[in-house]
Amino acid sequence: MQKTSSSPFDYFSYYKQVLTCEGVSLKTIAEKVGTPTYVYSAGSFLNSYRKLDQGLSGLSHQICFAMKSNSNLSILRLLASQGSGLDVVSGGELYRAQKAGVAGERIVFSGVGKTVQEMREGLSYGGKGIFSFNVESLPELTTLNQVASQMKTKARVALRFNPDVDPKTHPYISTGIKKNKFGMNRKEILEVLKNLDRFPAIEIKGISIHIGSQLLSLSPLADAFDRLASLVDFSSEKFGLNLEFLDLGGGLGISYGPEKSVPVSKYCELIQKKFGKKSKYQGRFKIVLEPGRQIAGNSGVLLTQVLYRKERKSQDFLIVDGGMNDLIRPALYSSHHEIVPVQQELLKGPKKKARVVGPVCESSDFFAKDRPLPLRLKEGDLLAVLSAGAYGFSMAGQYNSRPLVAEVLVQDGKFEVIRTRNSYTDLIQGEV
Ligand code: LLP
Repeated sequence: MQKTSSSPFDYFSYYKQVLTCEGVSLKTIAEKVGTPTYVYSAGSFLNSYRKLDQGLSGLSHQICFAMKSNSNLSILRLLASQGSGLDVVSGGELYRAQKAGVAGERIVFSGVGKTVQEMREGLSYGGKGIFSFNVESLPELTTLNQVASQMKTKARVALRFNPDVDPKTHPYISTGIKKNKFGMNRKEILEVLKNLDRFPAIEIKGISIHIGSQLLSLSPLADAFDRLASLVDFSSEKFGLNLEFLDLGGGLGISYGPEKSVPVSKYCELIQKKFGKKSKYQGRFKIVLEPGRQIAGNSGVLLTQVLYRKERKSQDFLIVDGGMNDLIRPALYSSHHEIVPVQQELLKGPKKKARVVGPVCESSDFFAKDRPLPLRLKEGDLLAVLSAGAYGFSMAGQYNSRPLVAEVLVQDGKFEVIRTRNSYTDLIQGEV
């Protein structure tokens, strides 16, 4: 892992033979906090956020970090300090947003299954309510209208448009094709707009899209933006719809190692071209984005320790103390994560194929398969599973009664535990 300015893993590099996060030794963190532990780089979070923010300069915009990717309060506060808003998908996320002190005018609420209770919480958030409910169906709109009427308020809404474009990503994280449960098709949206007088407590302020996650090409996005533009044009002509904003969702992919990702600058250029000052809209709409992975993904690693090396003819098992309950991505999506030793000298010497597995009682419990790794890696060695900052801890669970792991944030040459490791007592909390 060379330190080059374009490397996505920039904030994690070897210094004096030890893997560091912004110069802080991961070995020290492991000694003080134990393993498994998620370690995040504040610099990386800020850098990714700013790249996007700067790419949209000149265009009225709001970045709403998709907190499902990483919802630790310290991370939310860090991003909020830069002006970031949040994309939330549950009452629980809204609660975290409030605890992180994020203003309602910077919050969008996505998701196909908002409950009445969640709608109430969104409508009363901070006294004035949230910036937008991104509504995904007619029945949801009907319920939101009722809830807002009862509360004698109005709901600001973006209708989520399903543009039916194939994002060419893993099927589990594709959201913008017809057969997905997400959003409304063009016909459904036009039907709503035609009958807006039935929803007196609803103010249609925007249209939103989100076609999928880990997109490695801009063309599906360009396609989706065009379909969105066509819908916007038609709606304004036909119904005089006067929108305040367009929410373009998230989805930009990152490099996990082998694959090449689209540079953020290119993504921003596309947005500027379609909706910016020089587009036919002349920057008329505020642009909302909901990035998660692009900001968080390469900003964190999972630090884990080798418990045993179990030798086998074709490939050894490296049994580590982190498991699929701590980082489920490889088990769920067969996703690739680079794995490197914390001590650089361990990279030397012959390699042998290995399967890096956890202690969980399932064969799906792996971080890597058929991975050539140094033969000398053994019991006690520390490993870092890279690109684990997004959908890592936030998807963690307690399967096999394994307590949730610790999270650490490195900033300005120091590290801080931003979530303590759960205890056995935490495991049984609430049980009788
Ligand atoms: N907006 C909406 C409405 C979403 O559903 C998502 C992600 C995002 C924004 C953020 O997408 P991003 O910029 O992070 O691609 N657990 C999976 C990813 C699930 C994504 C779900 N929705 C994974 O680990 O790959």
